[in-house]
Amino acid sequence: MVRTLLILAVATVSVFQAPLAQAQPAPTAAPEETEPGIPVTDPLVISKCGTCHVKDDKGNLSRISWERSTPEGWEEAIKRMVRLNGLKITGPFHCQISGGLSRLGA
Ligand code: HEC
Repeated sequence: MVRTLLILAVATVSVFQAPLAQAQPAPTAAPEETEPGIPVTDPLVISKCGTCHVKDDKGNLSRISWERSTPEGWEEAIKRMVRLNGLKITGPFHCQISGGLSRLGA
């Protein structure tokens, strides 16, 4: 009887452990590698952002091609680039760039 219980207990533990082990995500996977980026084709975006956000052989700009946002969200991102990273940009370009970027998807 004790033996049967022991076998049952071991069996139950291994049944519950198997799916748990599979649920663990691979810790090394970077966001860039888990989904395809959207190539940036807007020449203004490439010229203004491509100096720091390097273009790969598929036309993806680093970070930008994996970012999904609204025009307002892109405006904020551009402001962050100006404030934090020293991006130099003039007023009218702002709208054109966020327009070009929001074609990447919301
Ligand atoms: C002077 C260099 C520089 C330029 C020019 C630049 N960036 Fe960045 N950007 C950075 C750095 C540095 C980071 C932070 C590093 C990182 O997270 O990969 C960053 C991060 C980002 C991020 C992710 C973090 C966040 O704050 O949202 C987005 C989105 C982004 N940049 C968009 C843009 C866009 C759009 C342009 C063009 C209008 C641009 N960047 C131009 C340097 C730059």
